[in-house]
Amino acid sequence: MSERTLVLVKPDGVSRGLVGEVISRIERKGLTLAALELRSVERAVAEQHYAEHDGKPFFESLLEFITSGKVAAIVAEGENAIAAFRQLAGGTHPVEKATPGTIRGDFGLEVQYNLVHGSDSPESAEREIKIWFPAL
Ligand code: CMP
Repeated sequence: MSERTLVLVKPDGVSRGLVGEVISRIERKGLTLAALELRSVERAVAEQHYAEHDGKPFFESLLEFITSGKVAAIVAEGENAIAAFRQLAGGTHPVEKATPGTIRGDFGLEVQYNLVHGSDSPESAEREIKIWFPAL
């Protein structure tokens, strides 16, 4: 079933010049771009986006990190887009979980600096797309 997923290239990915690499992998997988914007992240947007992690020990540093520079916000669309992008991204920890060949496995070392975010369910995708692209 065709669906949409929210992808973020986080500030580490943007500052390392990996936006094109991520977009290229999304497109080569066969997904299409429905929206794309390079933007600074206000604290309120970051809090909304990561609301499910409120209270966790890494919440504050996660918010600081995600608001520390520009992110590329992307809506990718296609058959099984949510699972497809999570496959491209690899597991959350770039070394302990992600395997080589994935974005995190190829480019990351630390869990906080794991380069990309992808929605983890249809409900999350709908919620997150509304936060980042309310007009979509
Ligand atoms: P993401 O897919 O964006 O969703 C939540 C983020 O929290 C996750 O990627 C990681 O970047 C971050 N995260 C998860 N666990 C930890 C942790 N133990 N320490 C720091 N950051 C974490």
